[in-house]
Amino acid sequence: MGWKQEYERARTDPEGYWMDQAKAIDWDVPPAKALHDRGGPVPEWFSDARVNTCWNAVDRHVAAGHGNRVAIIYDSPVTQTVARITYAELQDRVARLAGVLTARGVGKGDRVIIYMSMVPEALVAMLACARIGAIHSVVFGGFAAAELAVRIDDARPRAILATSCGIEPGRIVAYKPLLDGAIEMADHKPEFCVILQRPEGPAEMGARDVDWASAVVAADPAPCVPVEGHHPAYVLYTSGTTGAPKGVVRPTAGHLVALDWTMENIYDAKPGEVFWAASDVGWVVGHSYICYAPLIHGCTTVVFEGKPVGTPDASTFWRVMADHGVVSFFTAPTAFRAVKREDPSGAQMAGHDLSKLRNIYLAGERADPDTIEWIMAKTGKPVIDHWWQTETGYAIAANPVGLEALPVKLGSPAVPMPGYDVQVLDDAGHPVAPGTLGAIAVKLPLPPGTLPTLWNADARFRKSYLETFPGFYETGDAGMVDEDGYLWIMARTDDVINVAGHRLSTGAMEEVLATHPDVAECAVIGVADSLKGQLPLGFLCLSKGVDRDAGEVVAECVKLVRDKIGPVAAFKLACVVDRLPKTRSGKILRATMVKIADGGDWKMPATIDDPAILGEISEALGTLGYPGR
Ligand code: COA
Ligand code: AMP
Repeated sequence: MGWKQEYERARTDPEGYWMDQAKAIDWDVPPAKALHDRGGPVPEWFSDARVNTCWNAVDRHVAAGHGNRVAIIYDSPVTQTVARITYAELQDRVARLAGVLTARGVGKGDRVIIYMSMVPEALVAMLACARIGAIHSVVFGGFAAAELAVRIDDARPRAILATSCGIEPGRIVAYKPLLDGAIEMADHKPEFCVILQRPEGPAEMGARDVDWASAVVAADPAPCVPVEGHHPAYVLYTSGTTGAPKGVVRPTAGHLVALDWTMENIYDAKPGEVFWAASDVGWVVGHSYICYAPLIHGCTTVVFEGKPVGTPDASTFWRVMADHGVVSFFTAPTAFRAVKREDPSGAQMAGHDLSKLRNIYLAGERADPDTIEWIMAKTGKPVIDHWWQTETGYAIAANPVGLEALPVKLGSPAVPMPGYDVQVLDDAGHPVAPGTLGAIAVKLPLPPGTLPTLWNADARFRKSYLETFPGFYETGDAGMVDEDGYLWIMARTDDVINVAGHRLSTGAMEEVLATHPDVAECAVIGVADSLKGQLPLGFLCLSKGVDRDAGEVVAECVKLVRDKIGPVAAFKLACVVDRLPKTRSGKILRATMVKIADGGDWKMPATIDDPAILGEISEALGTLGYPGR
């Protein structure tokens, strides 16, 4: 079957279609039907089934005789390590860590926070939780203690699993002091923390800390615990409009079924082949395509601890693909922009045999045609842009090359995947004609694996996603569908920006800036950046009577955001202005400021209160080198 037939079958017979896909999963109790109404905000999938994620990702491959197959390749240029872990070894490691948790009382439904660098143990930690039905919540290492504290208070974990440190090019980031600081700040306290000591930066252990290495040696392996199909596999926090992150809930059964489907149909990867997603376990790409999907499908996954450039240079991606025989490679466009900037001619590809590589996948931010063309020209491989979100866990739109390679249109992530009825709506919720811009929404129900709600926040889930367009899920992206049914993703409709493929909230940054004693009012916008896609830029209005050097205040504000949100916010640009441009009703005109900064065409908004302020904003941007920076 081609894409069209598959898509149509999922649309007209969702029950039959998804029950068929469910056959790829090993069930303890198979589902009797696919879609269930449990009275939650949206219908859920395979609720009547019993299943275990870890069994499907690890044990079943060992049981099928593939114990000697490599499950994880750890390639760490920052520690100069390459290690291989077979499925049988992974099973043992996961079962023992699960035993460490169960021996200390952690069980089904308990939350466990994971705050770890890119080491194989991060996957072991996720799988150990899945094994016992505990709900993990991985927090990206680039977040500061205060952000970790917010997540601790929301998830209320019984335990935290952490590495002593992370390794960034040129510096060791001590995670343990950040973890201790976060626990200190949080109202909720975990019962214990299991710390993986890394030789590059060992941590001082405290009363609640358990040493990972000795605990797993002493532990009894724990068995897989079957859970209900709707049981949360994990909670992953992502940025929304406000400073409070949204805890996206991932349902167990739908996650298994959907991710397995994507491996062959989108990524064209077969069991035993090597799949590599160069991301971080702290992001949804890391959850789905470093950990779960490749393992569920019986592939070998690469855990890469490094950067596209600087570890040691722009040849790293090519070296890892060649050394390990990667067939499918997935990263964010920004990573390739970094490689291209450092090695525009592609000279550093020399000597790296990419003959096994079939396709390169991009997601996480808009893939600019220049970058796609550069990758295609240098590698001679198809480049597949696909569009998705933390909320969905896998592609909403893609070119499903494993199923059928559709013609590529540069700048478009191609067509909707089965189960996603994607529609472009006007403000009143009416579908618009092809080629017309609008809000992108997905008609309910969403397909298996997508979020059924936000952690402990049904009302916020409804308000954020379901209320604007009744009967639809609001993606937060704007764009259009063309005459051929291809999607074009143009911009966010909220205050989320995308910096180096990382989703960040300008609202969260504004909340932090507003705590500076001299800042009376502020606005943060996302401005275009040739490497990271977007960068945050802050405008600060100082309180009356404050007569300080603007540069000093800016430096303090930059430090404040780094301390409170973390280095990942990449907040380095700010300027002091007298006033912010607003509408007569007091709304800050952020979109107009973005257009001025990016040097685009802009019109004076009819509702502006004082047009002169835009001149002042333009002048302030000029001091930072905008437009044209
Ligand atoms: N722990 C601690 N700090 C971290 C971190 C981690 N896990 N990850 C990033 N940081 C820090 C970086 O060191 C950097 O600090 P600095 O301001 O002191 O330099 C800061 O956070 C910003 O990081 P980043 O935006 O990643 O910028 P970078 O300059 O280090 O690297 C790229 C730029 C493009 C090479 C890199 O962002 C990249 O490879 N991104 C694409 C891949 C990706 O992971 N996408 C996620 C979704 S697919
Ligand atoms: P995240 O939840 O971090 O994966 O970020 C999701 C957001 O990133 C989406 O809502 C889009 O705004 C953006 N995004 C992801 N993939 C693409 C893509 N292929 N093209 C354009 N934007 C994308």
